[in-house]
Amino acid sequence: MLSRKKAGESGIEISEIILGCWVMGGERWGGADDNESIRAIHRAIDLGMNTLDTAEAYNNGYSEDIIGRAVRGRSHEVVISSKVQESHMRRGDLVAACERSLKRLGRDCIDIYFLHWPAGYFGGPRASLAETMEAMAGLREAGKIRAIGMSNFTKEQFEEAGKTVKVDIYQPPFNILWRGSEAELFPYCVQHNIAIVPYSPIAQGLLSGKFRPGHVFREGDSRGTTPLFQSGPMERALALTEKLKPIADKYGKTMAQLVIRWTSQFPGVTSPIAGGRNPAQVEENSGGAGWVLSGEDFDFIENLSKEYHAALPKFKNYFDTEIVK
Ligand SMILES: NC(=O)c1ccc[n+]([C@@H]2O[C@H](COP(=O)([O-])OP(=O)(O)OC[C@H]3O[C@@H](n4cnc5c(N)ncnc54)[C@H](OP(=O)(O)O)[C@@H]3O)[C@@H](O)[C@H]2O)c1
Repeated sequence: MLSRKKAGESGIEISEIILGCWVMGGERWGGADDNESIRAIHRAIDLGMNTLDTAEAYNNGYSEDIIGRAVRGRSHEVVISSKVQESHMRRGDLVAACERSLKRLGRDCIDIYFLHWPAGYFGGPRASLAETMEAMAGLREAGKIRAIGMSNFTKEQFEEAGKTVKVDIYQPPFNILWRGSEAELFPYCVQHNIAIVPYSPIAQGLLSGKFRPGHVFREGDSRGTTPLFQSGPMERALALTEKLKPIADKYGKTMAQLVIRWTSQFPGVTSPIAGGRNPAQVEENSGGAGWVLSGEDFDFIENLSKEYHAALPKFKNYFDTEIVK
């Protein structure tokens, strides 16, 4: 059984690996099989991976809907984190978005509620962080949410938000291939007792060892448009995974288990969020817990990671191939 970790000062305990449920929405992942998704959630709960991460943006709430269906009758066994999208950061929009998520999830309360991206990041209405954080604090006081999280935000934005309300959890993109500026926020989080739950520890599957150069994704799977799957970064990533293979073999683990373990052991990290579309993936990924990488092996991977990162173009974000200064 997976163990539990403290989510900052929120009083909430989360599983040491969190199940990522974006893929269960289907959109941008080339579809999903609802029955498999529900079976994956049940398997996760049985393994003690009782924390489920979703968002209203995942196929317009469909991922939340699947979770609601899967946990009906056993909702008390799970901790659910969801996210409000960047176009709903004004007070009234945020409260309405939370109510819609609660309805889809079949709950009175969302355990952890994240701001997904900064207001207006993709266009759409802007709002001051003060207004948004006041609305989040209001939801917590009203018992609609228990903990407040921020996902794709900068250190400056965390500092600004912290003037209004205590933030409990940070959800950044972070894995062996992607350690961007996000990792700069880790010491700040540690200092302020903010839990860190990195997303994409397997780099959307790229670090699992199952991809080959020139991979053609099925229709509706948008991974090929993201930075790490571009020609150049992708080949270098695949070369890196070859170097990880002997380490995984040494511990009798799969590549997915190795890379999840490495992320878990990264200083400051509380629990990584690993996506899974079926019970087999969930079961395999749960094996990222229950063992420890030696300091020597951790450092070997850390050096490969830093080397990879240093040669990576400065992409706008984890999903956008625009190069920025
Ligand atoms: N806050 C944010 O902005 C944000 C952004 C992204 C993700 N997230 C959250 O983080 C979660 C995880 O991130 P992610 O899904 O992007 O990346 P990930 O966890 O690195 O990769 C998950 C994907 O890799 C494949 N996979 C999973 N286990 C595998 C295994 N053992 N062997 C081979 N392939 C495996 C599956 O896709 P296939 O079977 O289709 O290959 C799965 O959907 C999401 O579900 C979501 O909850 C949050």
